Amino acid sequence: MDFNSNTLLLLLVLIIFLFCYFIATRVWIKVDEEKNESSDKPKEGRRDFIQLTTMSIGGIGTAAFVWPFLKSMNPAQDTLALGSTEVDISEIGIGEAITVKWRGKPVFIRRRTSDEISEANNVDVSLLKDPENDIDRVEKDEWLVVLGVCTHLGCVPLGQKMSDSKGEYNGWFCPCHGSHYDSSGRIRKGPAPDNLAVPPYTFVNNSTIKIG
Ligand code: FES
Repeated sequence: MDFNSNTLLLLLVLIIFLFCYFIATRVWIKVDEEKNESSDKPKEGRRDFIQLTTMSIGGIGTAAFVWPFLKSMNPAQDTLALGSTEVDISEIGIGEAITVKWRGKPVFIRRRTSDEISEANNVDVSLLKDPENDIDRVEKDEWLVVLGVCTHLGCVPLGQKMSDSKGEYNGWFCPCHGSHYDSSGRIRKGPAPDNLAVPPYTFVNNSTIKIG
């Protein structure tokens, strides 16, 4: 049953319920008035009760009406699944890299060599176009996780395959307009304005990364 049919069903139930309640209270009040016609007993207690009951039913009805809207605002499980992805990194050797898709974008996961880690750390960050320390871009030195999208005009840089050109800074090279990224994914040369972005990710364990 979809959202519209749920809403219609709830509305129908609510209308029937309120109609029955309205008829019942009218009869109830009429009988009460006839009973008390010749009496001076106060009727406030009965009226208060009716008002309170009506408000309660109104509240329940409103909640029943609003619930499908609130429910529709929660992302479905399949949508949530699209928002994150778990990647097995146990088969990636030192110096190798893989590309996975996350939210329709390529994500580069590189297991860096000790030389690549040293290169990434032995940089005067103040000279960079987009100054960032390597330590602020990684969770673990050995693993670099970045979006494989050039920050100039969105091409996918080369450098994932062993046979690819990795540019002048041993990271990635964007052939579209010649941007060079280093082994931390930072822009070092060319028109790209920013470093390759680091997506949100965590290590689930030593062999699994959860991106998103
Ligand atoms: S898109 Fe990469 S350098 Fe222009």
